[in-house]
Amino acid sequence: MAGTNPKPAHTLHIHDLHVEVGGKEILKGVNLDLFSGEITALMGPNGSGKSTLAYGLMGHPKYVVTKGEALLDGQNLLKMPVDQRSRAGLFLGFQYPQEVSGLTLSKFLWTSYMQRHTAETADAEKFGKDLDAHLAWLEIDNAFLKRSLNEGFSGGEKKRAEVLQMATLEPRFAILDEPDSGLDIDAVRAVGQAVSRLHRPDAGILVITHYQRILKYLKPDRVHVMVDGLIALSGGRELAEQLELKGYDWVRAGTAATN
Ligand SMILES: Nc1ncnc2c1ncn2[C@@H]1O[C@H](COP(=O)(O)OP(=O)(O)O)[C@@H](O)[C@H]1O
Ligand SMILES: [Mg+2]
Repeated sequence: MAGTNPKPAHTLHIHDLHVEVGGKEILKGVNLDLFSGEITALMGPNGSGKSTLAYGLMGHPKYVVTKGEALLDGQNLLKMPVDQRSRAGLFLGFQYPQEVSGLTLSKFLWTSYMQRHTAETADAEKFGKDLDAHLAWLEIDNAFLKRSLNEGFSGGEKKRAEVLQMATLEPRFAILDEPDSGLDIDAVRAVGQAVSRLHRPDAGILVITHYQRILKYLKPDRVHVMVDGLIALSGGRELAEQLELKGYDWVRAGTAATN
C-alpha cells in the first residue's frame, strides 16, 4: 500500500507522454507514476490507448513517442534501445502473444534469463528450481517447456506463458496487458493468484485490464482509468468496483462534464 511503502526502491514516472500510431496521436499527454511494492491497475474502454502506452514504453517501432518522458529510477527509458529497456528492468506481457515456431518455451525462458545475467550471476540450479515452482503456481504442465513458444497454445496457456516469462525475468516493472482476456474463470484465478504471489516488494506491476475480475486476486493499490488517450480518473481499489457497476460511460460523462 502507498502508506506502508514511504520510500519505494524503484520508481517509474511517466510524464506528458504523447504517442502516435500511423500518424495519428493516440496518447495525448499521459501522466502515471508507478512504485515498487505496488500493483497499479490501468482500466478503460477498448481503443482508449492502454496497449499503446505499453508498446510506447517498450519501444515498439510503430508506436512513435512524440513528446514526454518515462523515467525508470531517473533514467529515461524512451532514449534507450529496446533491449536496453528490458535490461533496465522493464517487462511487457503482451495482450496478443506471438507464436514462435521452433523455439521451445524452455529455451526461450533460458535465453531471456541469460539476457539479464552474466556467466557469474547466472544460476542454472536456481533457475530450474524457480521454474518448477512457477509452473506449479501457474498450473502449467511441465510438458509445455518442450513445445514451441505459444504455438498451438490456447488463449489461457499463452497468458500463463507470459506470466512465466515475467517470473523468470524478475523485472523491476512489469506491464501485463490484459492477462485475463480470453481466459475462463479458473484460468483468471490461476493467473491472478500467481501474479500476486510473484509480486516482490522491490518490483512494481501495472496490470492493464478491462474488467474487475482479475483484480479480486491482485488487489491493486491504485486504479487509473484511461479514456481517449488520457488518464481520466484515478483512485483506489473501490474505483474498479464502481466501474464494474456503472460502466465506462459513467467516466466518459464525467470527463465531458469537467472539460
Ligand atoms: N498498429 C496500429 N495501427 C493502427 N492503429 C492502431 C494500432 N495500434 C493501435 N491503434 C489505434 O490506437 C487506438 C488505441 O488502441 P489500443 O492502444 O490498442 O487501445 P486499448 O488497448 O485501450 O484497447 C485505437 O483507435 C486503435 O485503432
Ligand atoms: Mg489493448
